Amino acid sequence: MQDGEPLVDMNAPVRLRDRPGWIYLIQEFEMMYRLGSAGGSKAIPSHRKRVRDALGKVIDEGPEVIARTPEDKPVTAHLGRAFDLGDRGPMSGMSRALERVAPLLTWEYGYEKVPKALAQKYAYCEVLGPRGPVVSDRITLGFVLFAPNTTYPQHSHHDIEESYVSVAGAWSENELAVYAPGSLILNVPGHEHRITTGEHDPCLLAYAWIGPADKLTAPGMKFSKTKKRVEQGI
Ligand SMILES: [Fe+2]
Repeated sequence: MQDGEPLVDMNAPVRLRDRPGWIYLIQEFEMMYRLGSAGGSKAIPSHRKRVRDALGKVIDEGPEVIARTPEDKPVTAHLGRAFDLGDRGPMSGMSRALERVAPLLTWEYGYEKVPKALAQKYAYCEVLGPRGPVVSDRITLGFVLFAPNTTYPQHSHHDIEESYVSVAGAWSENELAVYAPGSLILNVPGHEHRITTGEHDPCLLAYAWIGPADKLTAPGMKFSKTKKRVEQGI
């Protein structure tokens, strides 16, 4: 080392710019919310813009990246197949970018009580949010993975606007439509929704949550107690 050469501070926080795998994944989200038709919806372009604006601010701030303990759940046995399917479809860039960081992902349930059958067939991981790995309380980005033949019970999100984008596999929300890779579904706050997946393939969805920082920090996820008539979209 030469005199005057700057020293590396080993205790300095790790920033997003130091972790290309996370940067490329977040770039895929940014692109996903920039491109594509809104199918005539007025709500979807404004949601997309809110996501992009939040992401732009997060990137400008140079967020910290914290190390979370990688964790698998039973459903992650289906993740390889989800990547294989994702790679064949319109979301291949996102699928590959996630596959590159797959060993770092922390898969969890997010509920205090999870029905036993669902614990085998569902898990989610966050990539950006108040709990990291990329730390911000402006927005939460993550992925949900479902095994084939899964019903994810009815629920809603208070004060949180949620969108899902299919990465691999087909799925249905409230059993009234089938969504293929590339589809974007917006769930406004309070909208009750239930997810079902097809017989043969796993399903991988990317999601974004926009809402007040305290709600993103403690979303208080609960399944809906009374089974409302989902056909009414309430
Ligand atoms: Fe949801």
